Amino acid sequence: MGCNGSTLLSTRRAHVIDATIAIAPYASLAARFRAVRCRTLDLVAPLTPEDMMVQSCPEASPVKWHLAHTSWFFESFILREFLPGYKVFHPDFAWLFNSYYQTFAAFPEKRLRSSFSRPALDEILQYRAHVDEAIDRLLDTGSGPAPEALARIELGVHHEEQHQELILTDILHAFFTNPLRPAYKPAAHQPAPESVEPIQLIPHQGGLHEIGHKGAGFCFDNELPRHRVWLEPYALAQRLVTCAEFAEFIADGGYRRPELWLSDGWNAVQELKWRAPLYWDGNGNGASGTSEWSVFTLSGAMSFDQVANSPVSHISHYEADAYAHWAGHRLPTEFEWEAAEATSVCGNLPENLRAQSPAKLVQDHDAAKRWEWTASAYLPYTGFRPLPGSLGEYNGKFMSGQMVLRGGSCCTPPGHIRPSYRNFFAPATRWQFSGIRLAGRCE
Ligand SMILES: [Fe+2]
Repeated sequence: MGCNGSTLLSTRRAHVIDATIAIAPYASLAARFRAVRCRTLDLVAPLTPEDMMVQSCPEASPVKWHLAHTSWFFESFILREFLPGYKVFHPDFAWLFNSYYQTFAAFPEKRLRSSFSRPALDEILQYRAHVDEAIDRLLDTGSGPAPEALARIELGVHHEEQHQELILTDILHAFFTNPLRPAYKPAAHQPAPESVEPIQLIPHQGGLHEIGHKGAGFCFDNELPRHRVWLEPYALAQRLVTCAEFAEFIADGGYRRPELWLSDGWNAVQELKWRAPLYWDGNGNGASGTSEWSVFTLSGAMSFDQVANSPVSHISHYEADAYAHWAGHRLPTEFEWEAAEATSVCGNLPENLRAQSPAKLVQDHDAAKRWEWTASAYLPYTGFRPLPGSLGEYNGKFMSGQMVLRGGSCCTPPGHIRPSYRNFFAPATRWQFSGIRLAGRCE
């Protein structure tokens, strides 16, 4: 398996597997596995080994840890069980790179991951190559791997895609805390449009809707079972709230008015001294009210003019909820959001608004995408069954104290998202690419 364009593999002593290895009869899964593993290395190619050691906030992990942990997943849940004669790369890696699977092995405290100066980066890259070669062998076995092994490889591919997004999220925070404020990639930030249409709330029909994954394709266990939910008629904004619109909330005293906030949110504002979204610098007191903000992105610091019409990003659920309250609206439930993928609009909607209907929310243009906070607590669907064994810890045990986000972000890997996809974070979380879509009544 070779990774075209991977600086790391071409400049380090990484193991390169013969690209001519036969991949039938599981060609599509094998190709997807190889592409995803290569994409991870491409994503980290702009980084130095020192960049990959930083763990700048409790939510983040060092990039070096992500590189190892994603390999650990394949080794722990697939190769150990399903590849006869498989030799683990290093006996200590089973617990060292375990994230949170209590029933699998012990693991170090998350906050200590930045202390992993050993194993060295080169050794971790060799670990990745060792796992890649073994998965290739497993997929190439004559009678084919067991169906359970194939299902777990597919899960491992989606798991690695989740960590690809985390790599970008974490390195943005790492570079924000670096006094030099380096850019991950000068061209990473896509320019904001020069103008945006005013927000319009598009009405949607209520009634009985089916929610949850359908069809034979992959989904996580938390997207099942598909079930029915009753919705009153509702309305959803056709686009996300922009930075310029959020700046109006700030200028109107949004962070100083307790009546706009949930109680826990107001406590967070006081304790954490929030005055703006996470990566906004300055005070917004310029002549225009916003001109003194600058916003840090993967391309480095941007003037406010450069991001004014981009969706606001890196806000907590509490800030999203307070903004919606200030704007006279609310956040959608996760069920309204998902049902909007399938529902037709209701009422006498003018033609120009029908064209803007967010009927396919997950297909919005990438640059304009942010995870969208919903008003829904992250809970199991009725009849939810976690995966058997240790993999049952993947999603189910986090169904307490978190809110659901929908839609994906500009950093979500292509093809990773779907309408039933449920992301989740604690309501004070701000390091994700998270934004606001307003909801309201169907007038
Ligand atoms: Fe993980």
